[in-house]
Amino acid sequence: RNFLQILGRATLITLVVGSGGFYYLTQRDKHPGPQLPFDSEKKTIVVLGSGWGATSLLKTLDTSEYNVIVISPKNFFLFTPLLPSVAVGTVSPRSIIQSTRYLTRHKTRQVSVIEAEATDVDALNKTVTFTDNSEIKGLVSSTTIPYDYLVYAVGAEVQTFNIPGVKEHACFMKELHDAERLQRAFMDCVETAAFPTQSTAEVDRLLHMIVVGGGPTGVELSGELHDFLEDDLKMWYPELAAKIRITLVEALPSVLPSFSKQLISYTESTFKESKIDILTKTMVKEVKENSVVLQMPDKSIVEVPCGLVVWAAGNKSRALTQKLMAQLPSDQTNKRGIVVDDHLRMNGTNGSIFAIGDCTATSYAPTAQVASQQGSYLARCFHELAKTEKLSAKAAEIEQALTTTSSGDEKKKLEDSLASVLKKLKNQKLRPFHYSHQGSLAYIGSEKAIADLPFMDGNIATGGVATYLFWRSAYLSTLFSLRNRTLVATDWLKVKLFGRDVSRD
Ligand code: FAD
Ligand code: NAI
Repeated sequence: RNFLQILGRATLITLVVGSGGFYYLTQRDKHPGPQLPFDSEKKTIVVLGSGWGATSLLKTLDTSEYNVIVISPKNFFLFTPLLPSVAVGTVSPRSIIQSTRYLTRHKTRQVSVIEAEATDVDALNKTVTFTDNSEIKGLVSSTTIPYDYLVYAVGAEVQTFNIPGVKEHACFMKELHDAERLQRAFMDCVETAAFPTQSTAEVDRLLHMIVVGGGPTGVELSGELHDFLEDDLKMWYPELAAKIRITLVEALPSVLPSFSKQLISYTESTFKESKIDILTKTMVKEVKENSVVLQMPDKSIVEVPCGLVVWAAGNKSRALTQKLMAQLPSDQTNKRGIVVDDHLRMNGTNGSIFAIGDCTATSYAPTAQVASQQGSYLARCFHELAKTEKLSAKAAEIEQALTTTSSGDEKKKLEDSLASVLKKLKNQKLRPFHYSHQGSLAYIGSEKAIADLPFMDGNIATGGVATYLFWRSAYLSTLFSLRNRTLVATDWLKVKLFGRDVSRD
């Protein structure tokens, strides 16, 4: 009895302390303290974007050294790795976004957040023009501001290769509204198939979902669609569920080319068991309202009826990026994106523009991991830059004093302190950006995930249910805030208890 009493008390204390700590953390986040005002003496950093690169920079940046202005058409950060989960209702849309103001309001100095789209960057005159593209506009909706440093982190846009019908008829999987649109379209197909007296051929068409692109986005989305089908639709649409088909179309010889061969085979066999058809060496040539036109491996052309097409065929540079690069034709010649040096300075801009993330053309894959490491590296660079600038100003001040002093003692003192400042300046070195790969993870459905993890000097490739638990805990810990972590964990629990919602709003 004594043991049970002790155990009971220990549990109670843990619960009380745990909830108290949790409550304290939520309240601390909810009530940020006062901030330093804008300082006209400080340099201004303008940050374009509020995605992985920009958010990671803002998180680490010491704003006591700079004035900071963030411009982005979205006033939030989107945790893209869980976007496919939103498309099937495993996670709610609001659980994977976090307002940018939430982050900036916790910084030492006030940060100006402007919800607008940058429409022009003048690299020569160091200005940015931006426009409010939201539905509601004030009397002023476009303006131009100067910058001392520009952090260009606008990401990339969906690559359609100008294939006819893609923009008009396919759903994308890039932004939050894409996932929400896909969820509605998917349920619309299912409900329309349930309409009385629908012909068998029409039901088959409506329930054929085609995912284009066998990269991680297409694979994860196919896995999530399969889970939705198995866990929920079978229950609520028993007469239709068996007719739902998912086909993944990939132009290359295999899906997930960036993963190890072992994990590619594991994914292919899991998809086979899950009845997800994979068509490799097959290229989508056109997307029509009710079908896709495929070029098969033998080069024959086949038109396949379908209810929904999801386009996950990769990314390309934004028009704004191409416009900026066109201003520096001799330095910016890479069609994939902005060329930067080892310190992420855009070539040809004398260190006034830094570019990070998917808008750049580097040797790294366009991933959140790379963008966020670049963002925090850049924050450290700005810290070092501020130190260098302070030391240079100090050196100039001493040199000036030296020209006016006549006293021998005073001169010696000034010379000593100049030598000390110059020594410090000499030691100020910006280390180049170094990417540290933490591994690649992807969810493939059926509560299985795959992981290519760096281990010692090599890699370990692992797949299965344990990897799925690792995937979940890794993503939960990478989530932006306590709020996001709590919301996502609650969503997962809700789905476990009640299943996914099949209502169409
Ligand atoms: P983004 O995060 O795309 O941010 C760009 C920002 O710029 C946005 O805030 C946008 O609103 C803003 N912007 C756009 N135009 C303008 C403009 N004109 N002016 C001002 N601002 C502008 N990577 C991983 O490493 N692991 C994963 O598991 C993973 N999963 C993914 C799942 C999906 C479905 C997708 C689509 C991508 C995934 N990625 C993943 C890739 C990852 O999301 C990107 O590599 C990452 O978002 C790149 O960060 P970024 O800051 O360059 O761009
Ligand atoms: P991707 O570029 O990796 O894959 C797109 C695929 O579409 C390619 O394999 C390409 O061959 C195929 N394709 C292109 N045109 C086609 C056509 N007409 N017909 C058929 N197939 C066609 O794009 P994705 O998956 O969106 O990934 C973008 C970036 O985001 C990558 O760097 C990826 O690593 C990263 N990412 C990482 C994730 C993870 O680590 N879990 C999840 C999602 C994305």
